[in-house]
Amino acid sequence: MNVLMISPGFPAEMPYFTRGLAEVGARVLGVGDQPPPLVPEIARRALSDYLQVRNLWDEEAVIAELKRWSKRQRIDRIECLWEPGMLLAARLREALGLPGMTVEETLPLRDKERMKQVLDRAGIRTPRHARATTAGQVRAAAERIGYPLIVKPIAGAGSADTYRVDDAAHLERVLPRLRHVPEVSVEEFIDGEEYTFDTICAGGEVFYYNVSWYRPRPLIARSEEWISPQTVALRRVDQPELAGGRAMGLAVLKALGFRTGFSHMEWFRKPDGEAVFGEIGGRPPGARSVDIMNYACDLDVYRGWAEAVVHRRFSQPIERKYNAAVIFKRAQGQGRIRRIAGLGKLLADFGPHVVCVDLAPVGAPRRDWRQTLISDGYLIVRHPELRATLEMADRVGTDLQLFAG
Ligand SMILES: Nc1ncnc2c1ncn2[C@@H]1O[C@H](COP(=O)(O)OP(=O)(O)OP(=O)(O)O)[C@@H](O)[C@H]1O
Ligand SMILES: [Mg+2]
Repeated sequence: MNVLMISPGFPAEMPYFTRGLAEVGARVLGVGDQPPPLVPEIARRALSDYLQVRNLWDEEAVIAELKRWSKRQRIDRIECLWEPGMLLAARLREALGLPGMTVEETLPLRDKERMKQVLDRAGIRTPRHARATTAGQVRAAAERIGYPLIVKPIAGAGSADTYRVDDAAHLERVLPRLRHVPEVSVEEFIDGEEYTFDTICAGGEVFYYNVSWYRPRPLIARSEEWISPQTVALRRVDQPELAGGRAMGLAVLKALGFRTGFSHMEWFRKPDGEAVFGEIGGRPPGARSVDIMNYACDLDVYRGWAEAVVHRRFSQPIERKYNAAVIFKRAQGQGRIRRIAGLGKLLADFGPHVVCVDLAPVGAPRRDWRQTLISDGYLIVRHPELRATLEMADRVGTDLQLFAG
């Protein structure tokens, strides 16, 4: 099977998915705007051919070029695991007459209002919501929905321009900050914990799934610089507390007609146990979430996805052995990283439970934590017991410090 991968070299996880396709026997073609020498080695070795286009977002031009290219390069499937490229992938499939998700099926995954309308019709519990393009519409929606509420971009990512609003006066202070956002979603604020429900599916069957827990809730983690955000892939995904989210996840996939590929849903668990829908993408989660899935089960989820889309099976055994937590660190101070404190003691105390250390080196400029969840690097720890995993993760949060200056 000849599989065309859109942007095989970027972002960071794409080369691993690209390699996965080659490992399961696909002939992998790539299209992207990176010049070939800049495509990371792992992806380059997996690719049989690569079409460099000048601008990946000029859909008309990319479709025309690919049509020409496909005269000598047979294309059987088109895959894209990068959120901004998903509609392009759907348009290309339609232009070339290939199977897979259509534009109509992809749109609800890219529009937070449309998504929730489809789910409402299927009887899934979403936060009360409304779409708004003007300040007046936001005020009217706020009256209807009630406070506290959330205002966020229709096509947001990384909690950018997302605000919790507690009353009408607060809304007036937030509205000027949203002027550059063309369209927002106004939502009932849901209190509780936040989890994911991630799957790999083929032909409408779920072959593998994962539940991760965000600590703390992403909006809080994205507002306070001192926090070291954690994502924890849970070992006991079958515990009763998660059953509501799991059932909701399956119902959401069905309602959206999602049949093949990677999905990433976020949901809330209220203090009374009710599961409420958050959002869903038809792609894997970012920020090392696939790596913690791998560490939790000693799997290669990248290859597992590839096998599912190419052969419609998932042959690696799924043994849930560990909870795996990634902890992101943000340096203190500005400028370059000068000193990393506490790492030696943590490594000595936790030994083999630390499975990955990837921190910005001394001398590197510190990164903007608002722009990248990965910030100045991360550790991954794992342990069969959840309590031990959380204790280690919290100690990485408090005892490991990066100083910039
Ligand atoms: N209705 C809601 N009630 C409570 N909190 C919410 C609600 N909607 C969004 N949030 C908070 O804002 C965060 C970001 O919202 P959401 O996940 O919809 O947007 P995003 O920017 O696409 O996220 P991501 O960081 O996953 O890209 C959520 O993780 C949650 O903490
Ligand atoms: Mg989100």
